[in-house]
Amino acid sequence: MNRTLLIVKPDGVERGLTGEILRRLERKGLRLVAADLRTITREVAVRHYAEHEGKPFFDDLVAFITRSPALVAVLEGPDDETYAVLRTLMGATDPHKAAPGTIRGDLAIEVTENLVHGSDSPESAAREIGLFFPGTP
Ligand code: RTP
Ligand code: MG
Repeated sequence: MNRTLLIVKPDGVERGLTGEILRRLERKGLRLVAADLRTITREVAVRHYAEHEGKPFFDDLVAFITRSPALVAVLEGPDDETYAVLRTLMGATDPHKAAPGTIRGDLAIEVTENLVHGSDSPESAAREIGLFFPGTP
């Protein structure tokens, strides 16, 4: 699996940072193979974030990710570590701790509204691409 799922979350689209985020990823060498601006439904959000169901932040997370359009995309890289390349460019989940030079480190300040999602393993990438882009080879 040399592909991974990217979401520019609603805060990124609302703030007009979609181009800035894609620019960073494309300059690194990740290639867009699919992209769609859409409002994520509650049903898809709950399936996407199923691992977090029951956690204290879950309801806020689902409300946030469904509140306005997000850019959902598939990125392709040279090898099986493509998901990890995206995660490195994103930075730590908590933007307070994200390193300068990363998307979250440079552009975000709140833990829920942290601009981007990237799959956390090749297995997650396959599952999430199937969820958001069914039929993509
Ligand atoms: P993501 O899945 O969105 O790529 O983020 P991640 O792997 O870096 O972080 P994860 O642990 O999977 O958390 C998913 C998203 O939930 C929100 N969150 N809020 N308030 C909190 O303590 C808290 N913890 C996580 C963030 O939007 C995080 O990206
Ligand atoms: Mg995650």
